[in-house]
Amino acid sequence: MLTSIKAVGTHVPQGVLTNADLERMVETSATWIRERTGILERRIAAPNEGATDLAVMAAEDALSRAGLRPQDTDLIVLSTSTPDSTFPSCAARVQERLSARGPAFDIQAACSGFLYGLSVADQFVGSGEARQALVIGTETLTKIVNFKDRGTCVVFGDGAGAVVVGPSSDGAGIRSCVLGSDGQGGDLIYVAPGAPTPEGPGRPEIHMDGRKVFRFATEILAQATLEALEKAGVALEDVSLIVPHQANARIIEAAAKRLGVAPEVMVNNIAQYGNTSTASIPLALREAIDAGRVAAGDFIVLVGFGAGLTWGACVLQWEGGGAAPN
Ligand code: ACO
Repeated sequence: MLTSIKAVGTHVPQGVLTNADLERMVETSATWIRERTGILERRIAAPNEGATDLAVMAAEDALSRAGLRPQDTDLIVLSTSTPDSTFPSCAARVQERLSARGPAFDIQAACSGFLYGLSVADQFVGSGEARQALVIGTETLTKIVNFKDRGTCVVFGDGAGAVVVGPSSDGAGIRSCVLGSDGQGGDLIYVAPGAPTPEGPGRPEIHMDGRKVFRFATEILAQATLEALEKAGVALEDVSLIVPHQANARIIEAAAKRLGVAPEVMVNNIAQYGNTSTASIPLALREAIDAGRVAAGDFIVLVGFGAGLTWGACVLQWEGGGAAPN
């Protein structure tokens, strides 16, 4: 059965961390951050605000836009690298808060996680195993960033996005998903415990070889896009929008060049949010819908990469009706 995205919801924390704020925290400059990443500010979760809190708000937004109640869904697939606890899963916590039912589980594929989740939901709903699924990407990355490491702390932000996946109602929908992983690149970006402090063990921190990840990213965004299009039998020329993982504006520009598409085909909202990992694609898709850049029948590619190394791409034809902007 063909499935489709019925609605897209988002939620970002209220706290804003600007480049000027970072200038006061670490040896950097607002100009360097803007020119090298395209980021102007990012959202930062409050100390008592967790990935579950953001996920619940994004899920409620998606459900309300789809005109559904939580009980109308029967699967929650949640992607995060920053769960509030190892267990129960963030998905189970969200399920409890929403009073939803059916299986609920977390997946972890770093920044590719949303696409992994979408592919899982596509298969559950496509096979009839689930009727309507919630796919959520949620992150509080600023809780695992070392704010003394200028190579990482300027890049990451917090946020959540969610979509409802259900059976296609008009023949449009998800046409293909491709996923990939290469564990050999595991040391290019990883989370490890920070140095112990007098107060106790160090908290986990992101480590990244930015230059090598950058190179990988520009190649894989183009490659995964083309693979997913080939699998879907859709020509690149017929794609009206590509929604890439928002890691760095220069990566997005380089991927557009490599694909030979006009820069305006790529959605780029990194300036306001930074890299929100698994939340970045639904956040960017929602903004594209709000900006009137998505019409029924359009072919769209969602494409991302992340730690693992992992990557994924999904081709979809945007559905009319429930999936239309509201
Ligand atoms: N402010 C000022 N100078 C800086 C900063 C900073 N914040 N960060 C690095 N620099 C300096 C470096 O020290 C270096 O100085 P040097 O030439 O004197 O040695 C110089 O700037 C250039 O450093 P690069 O690392 O080459 O900078 P680059 O232009 O590559 O930008 C960045 C760094 C933004 C991290 C970039 O490499 C990048 O975006 N990489 C990809 C990151 C990414 O996609 N991550 C995905 C995460 S996915 C996931 O799963 C979570």
